[in-house]
Amino acid sequence: MRRTQPNLQPLPSEITPPDRYCNRREVITALAAVGAVGAGLARDASAAQLKYARNARFSLKEAPNSFEDITTYNNFYEFGTDKADPAQKSGKFKPQPWSVAITGECAKPGTYTLEDILKPHALEERIYRLRCVEAWSMVIPWVGFPLGALLQRFEPNSKAKYVAFKTVMRPSEMPGQRFPVLDWPYVEGLRIDEAMHPLALLAVGLYGQTLPNQNGAPLRLVVPWKYGFKGIKSIVEIRFTERQPPTAWNISAPHEYGFFANVNPSVDHPRWSQAQERRIGGSLFASKQATLPFNGYAEQVAALYSGLDLRKFY
Ligand code: MTE
Repeated sequence: MRRTQPNLQPLPSEITPPDRYCNRREVITALAAVGAVGAGLARDASAAQLKYARNARFSLKEAPNSFEDITTYNNFYEFGTDKADPAQKSGKFKPQPWSVAITGECAKPGTYTLEDILKPHALEERIYRLRCVEAWSMVIPWVGFPLGALLQRFEPNSKAKYVAFKTVMRPSEMPGQRFPVLDWPYVEGLRIDEAMHPLALLAVGLYGQTLPNQNGAPLRLVVPWKYGFKGIKSIVEIRFTERQPPTAWNISAPHEYGFFANVNPSVDHPRWSQAQERRIGGSLFASKQATLPFNGYAEQVAALYSGLDLRKFY
């Protein structure tokens, strides 16, 4: 059976400059919610409700995983390497106040508060599948806004061929950073055309409320056609670069994790198959499902890689 694919026609919001399409009332509400810790009927005591509109066209029709699955089975090595560590050990992490440095090849570098970052963007809910390189998957209702719309605001110049991202470095709040498990801080990167693709999302929430710490509060990347590890969490820097930037997992194990990390059932990880995936939360006896090329988004993104040998550029 062919899985339902979202119809990915660009929305007016993706082709119009953000300052013209934004709904002022929604932005103000979204900002108030992001700033108001503890307000609203949040599932998590430190979260706030967000104001957003569901983007049905960009959403899978599959039922999302439970809030519990999504917030208790995590990879966030800054809080430990066990799947339960991020939920259990991220209580001291302070995602507010927050700012993001915009650096490198652009006309408008600077340090922007989270409120500055969010101001012109209307928030959308998008239901995406997260396919982890470890051969499991989840379906997550993210709340966020297109990465490309944000990047355009800083006016990248012609040397901006890539976009690099960096996670905050705070060993006092992130116990995993006290151990050399990865080369901290965690870094990631995209080619600029990948970053500008309408599917690339910056998430500030899930299930309608601000992101829990373990999922990357207050701002994380979601690139649904790539393995989950590209979704860098708790971002403090976005840099436009001319050269391909280093990425945390590639530094750690270059023969296992490449720069592109496109979901590809026909290129196995050196230690296991990538042909199938196990849906988290399903019965232990539930059969595995086939992994789809580009995680089901081939129609929308395959053209980004025409001419590239995806076995070599994994
Ligand atoms: N970002 C940072 N900073 N540190 C990490 O360890 N793990 C990655 C990615 N982003 C990671 C990270 C991996 S391996 C995955 S699968 C996803 O986050 C998991 O996101 P989730 O916990 O919200 O499901």
